[in-house]
This record gives sequence, C-alpha cells and structure tokens, in this order.
Amino acid sequence: MPEHLLNIASLRPGDLQGILETAAYFKKSSYRGRELAGKTVALLFEKPSLRTRTTLEVAALHLGGHAVYLDTRQVGLGVREPVKDVALNLGRWVEGIAARVNKHETVEELARYAGVPVINALSDTDHPLQALADLLTLREHFGRLEGLRLAYVGDGNNVLASLLEAASLAGMEVVVSTPEGYEPPAGLMERAGATLVRDPYEAVAGADAVYTDVWVSMGQEEETQRRLRDFRGYTVTPELMEAAGKQAVFLHCLPAHYGEEVVEEVVYGPQSKVFDQAENRLHTVKAVLAGLVGGRPWSG
Ligand code: CP
Ligand code: NVA
Repeated sequence: MPEHLLNIASLRPGDLQGILETAAYFKKSSYRGRELAGKTVALLFEKPSLRTRTTLEVAALHLGGHAVYLDTRQVGLGVREPVKDVALNLGRWVEGIAARVNKHETVEELARYAGVPVINALSDTDHPLQALADLLTLREHFGRLEGLRLAYVGDGNNVLASLLEAASLAGMEVVVSTPEGYEPPAGLMERAGATLVRDPYEAVAGADAVYTDVWVSMGQEEETQRRLRDFRGYTVTPELMEAAGKQAVFLHCLPAHYGEEVVEEVVYGPQSKVFDQAENRLHTVKAVLAGLVGGRPWSG
C-alpha cells in the first residue's frame, strides 16, 4: 500500500489494477463495510466541489467511518497558521486527509507532516481520483483498457495529467489535441507515449473515447477572455463525435461549461458516459479510502 495518493505516480505496479478491481466489486455488491469504523477523514478544500466532496463523504460513511469537511477559509490554511502546523494538528485527530488545493506543494507539505495518509482531491497539476473513475468507466464499457485509443481535446490541464499517467499504466494509447501553448508538459507526454495532433477532427478519428474538460480551470478566471479566444474550434460537438465514429464514448470530468468545451447535445447524447463516470467517482474513492485509510489490500 502506498502511504499517500498525491498523483498517479504514487501508485506501485499493480495498484491501479487492484483499485479498479476493488471498485468494480464495491459497485457490483453495493458494498458496505467496516474498514473505516471509528476512523475520521478530514476534507480540506481550498476550491469548490460537488463530486469529490460528496463521494468522499459518502464513501467514508459506506465504510463505517466519518468525514469532517473543513473550509480552508475558516481554517486559514497558510494564512491563520502554516500548512505544516495544520498538518501536525490534523494528524493528531484524524486517520486520513483529502485535500483540494491551489498549489500542488500544499498536498506535498501536508503529506510530509501529517503522519496519516494524504489524498490529493485535485491540485493545479493533478487529479488522480478523477483518472481512477475515468478508467473504471472505460473498463466497464469496453471490458478492457489495454489497447484502447483515447483522444483528449482541449486544455492540457490537471485532469489530463492524471489521465495520461493512468492511461499509460493501463497500456492505452492517448492522442492529445490542444491549441498551441496549452500542451501538457513535454516530459509527461513523452513518459505516457502520447501523441499531439493539433486538428481535433484528425485526433478523434477512430478513437474509442473522446474526453474533454473545461478551458478555464478553477483559479484561472482572469485568463477567461484569452482562453475562450485561443480554444475556439476545440468544442466537442455532435459533428466531432460523428467524426470519431459510433464506437466512441464521450467522457468529461464535470462540471461542464456548456457552449465552450462541449455542447449539451453531446453530454446528454447517446455516446455520453459522463454520469456513469460521475457515479464511478464513488466506487473508486471508496476503494482508495478502504486501502489507504482502512488497510484493506487492493485485490488485483
Ligand atoms: N470532477 C470533479 O472533481 O468534480 P468536483 O469539482 O465537483 O469535485
Ligand atoms: N480542470 C478543472 C477540473 C475540475 C474538476 C479544474 O481544475 O477546475
């Protein structure tokens, strides 16, 4: 069992497969357990959330434990007191921490000092919990992950970084289509063996899955005008899905900014798996908590 889940690279060989197997079993059996009995997970969120917060709270409850939501403005994370002191305090009271942070260094610092497992619930660079749900959704639909071709159209952001790492561990092929200047870090593309194709129509042709995320992530609001201009032509439309082919499913981590990276017809359309994906956030986070906080080995 790794100590923390700060990014997909925190996982050891076999962990990804084990988490997905455990999550699939939890889903199939509507699992309720006692792995977290008497245990508390602190949710320390610097940014808003629907899916991540709710699924962490529900998952803790399903495993017999409890989650405490902490608004970081109230806590004064790094303002009222240093991140290090928040970690040293929380570690005395709770058995795990899930943190959604502006800067990735904050989750690293929490992990350094808390003395309990720390889970990255989204940072500026990574969103590992999302990638786990994404892969579970694809595995359910296609019955396998190896060899699947995923086309990501849009911003080379935190969601894409974790998706690239997870997809490459699973033996998938990823094609990334971003406008110039919005590519993921070159090292990451290389490690994942991903290809960059500027033209979204060319990128999606023959793909098994088309994935997009918002063009303006939380914390980038002042770049909105520039981004809306730069991403023109990268909207996932019914025409783009048709170019992908009938076999292709559509994925989005949500929330969606309709009329920007995607239109409603695609999210509510026949190829969309986005609400299965949202459901799978629960089953995968339950597997993560059962393992990291509850000590239940992931079964591969
Ligand atoms: N996809 C996702 O992380 O959603 P929230 O921001 O609502 O948690
Ligand atoms: N890239 C988005 C994901 C939200 C779940 C953001 O960071 O705001």
